[in-house]
Amino acid sequence: MSIIFLLLTSLVGIFSLMPGRCTSLATQTPRTFLITGATDGIGRHTAEKIASDGHHLVLHGRRPDVGASLASSLASRGAASARYYDADLSDLREVERLSREIASSTERLDVLINNAGVFDPDPPHSAQGYDASWHVNVMAPFLLTRRLLPLLASASEERSWTPRIITTSSISQSWSLWPDRFPALFDRNGPARSGHGAYSDSKLGDYLFTVRLAEILENSNDERLRRIKCLTMDPGTVNTKMLRAGWGACGIPLIRANNTYKLAATEYGANAESGSYHFGGSGSQDAKDSKKLKMLWEKLEECTGCSYSDI
Ligand SMILES: NC(=O)c1ccc[n+]([C@@H]2O[C@H](COP(=O)([O-])OP(=O)(O)OC[C@H]3O[C@@H](n4cnc5c(N)ncnc54)[C@H](OP(=O)(O)O)[C@@H]3O)[C@@H](O)[C@H]2O)c1
Ligand SMILES: *[C@@H]1O[C@H](CO)[C@@H](O)[C@H](O)[C@H]1NC(C)=O
Repeated sequence: MSIIFLLLTSLVGIFSLMPGRCTSLATQTPRTFLITGATDGIGRHTAEKIASDGHHLVLHGRRPDVGASLASSLASRGAASARYYDADLSDLREVERLSREIASSTERLDVLINNAGVFDPDPPHSAQGYDASWHVNVMAPFLLTRRLLPLLASASEERSWTPRIITTSSISQSWSLWPDRFPALFDRNGPARSGHGAYSDSKLGDYLFTVRLAEILENSNDERLRRIKCLTMDPGTVNTKMLRAGWGACGIPLIRANNTYKLAATEYGANAESGSYHFGGSGSQDAKDSKKLKMLWEKLEECTGCSYSDI
């Protein structure tokens, strides 16, 4: 009996030392990645890949039951740790609460991945009365990023790593007719918008947010903030529930959707230029219009009640 027990425990010991499990941990220091919208689609796939590399995961979603089982499944895939936080991003008060909860339980963030997003064929109003796609896809990451900047600055003190803020845009951003629809984005309780138009505007918003944020951080007096890279991308056309709802299953399978991971967790992203757009299509011309960028920024500050002027 005791011999069998001894045999079993030594076998377990051998398995945990097998090279396949240990190489990624041995070759890189575990970093801390926050992924919003990690409970499904591209966010979930990215979280799984980062977990397999042995990093710490801070996961966000709006379904606590799914979040809890996701955290435990990522821990068994090899994550150094995995914690889940719940918040509905279509309410700014929830975004504030989420930021406070993360800040009070996390020492540093090496990468923030603003991935959560929504397409709604008939976008409702958010809790504060804005177009819900604009609110969830642009206003929420604008506020969350500002609140979490101190955690990214802490990671930035270490020279061997490039802290990153990844914000998920889309190939849809190049089709938008902005700024013709600019006022509608900030119109509280305004007329209902077309689902595809509202979505494209929000993805252009994500792109312009990244461009302007990169400029602001590059001009900061704080050297730690100057080292943070702001990157944006098209994650690929991927068969997730969002794509099916808006465009049909015309994309690649989720298993191949590695763009977000590439930008957030590999040398490719570490070497990219801050403020740059990656992968599908090319960036909208609006990004070169500094007047428009500043106008957008001021409106976002006003509507979220959150200022970047002290950066
Ligand atoms: N799929 C594509 O082809 C494609 C192309 C270009 C860009 N994108 C972008 O890629 C990102 C991920 O999209 P996906 O295709 O992976 O979509 P998805 O499968 O629908 O996943 C979206 C994630 O965001 C979360 N989310 C949505 N609304 C939320 C809210 N109000 N509060 C909190 N969380 C919320 C979802 O939570 P639940 O799990 O509870 O739904 C889910 O975790 C989005 O930013 C999207 O715009 C996707
Ligand atoms: C994407 O990542 C998955 C999971 O790690 C891997 O199996 C697949 O080969 C990758 N695909 C591409 C196209 O890079």
